[in-house]
Amino acid sequence: MPNMVRFHLHVFGCQMNVYDADRLRSALVNRGWVEAPEDTAEVIVFVTCSIREKAEQKVLSALGRHGRSWSRASRPLVAVIGCMAQRMGEGLMRRFPWVCLVAGPRHLGLVPEALEDALRNGKRHLILDADAREIIDLDEIPIVRSNPYKAYVTIAHGCDNFCTYCIVPYVRGRFRSRRPEDVICEVERLVKSGVLEVTLVGQNVNSYGRDLKGYSFPRLLEDVASIPGLVRLRFTTSHPRDFTDDLIEAMARVESICPSVNLPIQSGSDRILRLMNRGYTVAEYAAKVEKLRDALPQLGLTSDLIVGFPTESDEDFRASLRALEAFHFDQVHTASYSPREGTPAARMTGQVSEETKRERLCAVNALQSEIALEINKSLVGKECEVLLDGFAPKGEGLLQGRTATDKVVIVPGDANCLGKFALVKFVRAEHWCLHGEILSLHPFPLREREVSDRAG
Ligand code: SAH
Ligand code: SF4
Ligand code: F3S
Repeated sequence: MPNMVRFHLHVFGCQMNVYDADRLRSALVNRGWVEAPEDTAEVIVFVTCSIREKAEQKVLSALGRHGRSWSRASRPLVAVIGCMAQRMGEGLMRRFPWVCLVAGPRHLGLVPEALEDALRNGKRHLILDADAREIIDLDEIPIVRSNPYKAYVTIAHGCDNFCTYCIVPYVRGRFRSRRPEDVICEVERLVKSGVLEVTLVGQNVNSYGRDLKGYSFPRLLEDVASIPGLVRLRFTTSHPRDFTDDLIEAMARVESICPSVNLPIQSGSDRILRLMNRGYTVAEYAAKVEKLRDALPQLGLTSDLIVGFPTESDEDFRASLRALEAFHFDQVHTASYSPREGTPAARMTGQVSEETKRERLCAVNALQSEIALEINKSLVGKECEVLLDGFAPKGEGLLQGRTATDKVVIVPGDANCLGKFALVKFVRAEHWCLHGEILSLHPFPLREREVSDRAG
């Protein structure tokens, strides 16, 4: 059909952006627009992230690339939404005349209309979140998703923790829980549309319900887990300070809540944790991990770690290395500290040199790769259930899936296997994944045959 607008989405950043992009995609498709490859799209939407300078640079260079074709043909129109749009605002409009829309993450609901207006009338729109509490959201359910079998659902907006290095509270605004009935209704509709696995997302999901009367995160988990047809339920990100005993109990009690947790430690030094305003010590963190592992022996545990926070000494850094050895995480998202303008840490004296940060990042990555490889090697020869949810990024005839504990598994297979549960035997380990062979395929999980995929 000739009048269909061809659009392309470019998604950067965290799962909240994937969720926002899935809803925007659904909203545009519902208006009759069609998704298209970038080189043939009339409208390109960048869903952006500000967490580190590098995340922003990627978007800036991608935005720059569209200048030539725009000055030749006035196409494509480019829109920038999300955290970086909120942070840079009008500056983006000035620097890139082909940007027709800049919108913050709390005004997604206004984006489809503004895009149509930009296309039809050539108007440019700047829609920033002036009030950190106001939300004008899309009421669309992400029916047209990037993945048909799994979906993210944001349960809370913003963050009030103000860790001193972090830009999120400034760009995503104040913490606000979505209504439980809205979350539940959305998950029900997703399950009806074929979703098997849902991940509830927020910057601090454990705080969910703090602003609601008498409703907590563990209760939401149990209510969502009881939705018929939902096979796997996950959540991210958890804040160590707010990870409560009743949450651990709910995880142990409810079978469909996956035994996997991302619990960012950020540093192994109490002095640095205090400067980061994290609200826990390494000993308190260790106590939570111990409780979790006692209650859930299969637990898959991942973490986040920053190296080179201002004033981080060799001794502080060694404490982070010791933490990796002590906690034996399955995976760690490591990052070199990136000063974010407007945050307290960016103004601290004692900024660490780029060279030291680079060296420290290499050292933590090398140690963590060894640890992850050792864990994965201990699983070779074991059998485990895997939900096959996509093609492997590299390699013909290879599929990718995840165990309940969130390990990445690669197996030979074809499109007919997608969306199915496979009993897989692990044959080879890498630090980031396990290679396996499919023993059998099933439309539903094989609870009774589930095998621990963690040694010991
Ligand atoms: N809300 C989560 C995660 C937030 S952002 C939490 O509390 O942990 C995801 C990760 O990016 C963080 O865990 C942190 O490791 C990293 N990060 C955030 N700000 C950063 C910065 N300024 N420099 C480097 N890494 C940063
Ligand atoms: Fe950032 Fe801290 Fe909030 Fe996480 S908890 S989003 S690191 S301020
Ligand atoms: Fe990035 Fe915003 Fe998420 S800064 S990590 S996209 S909340």
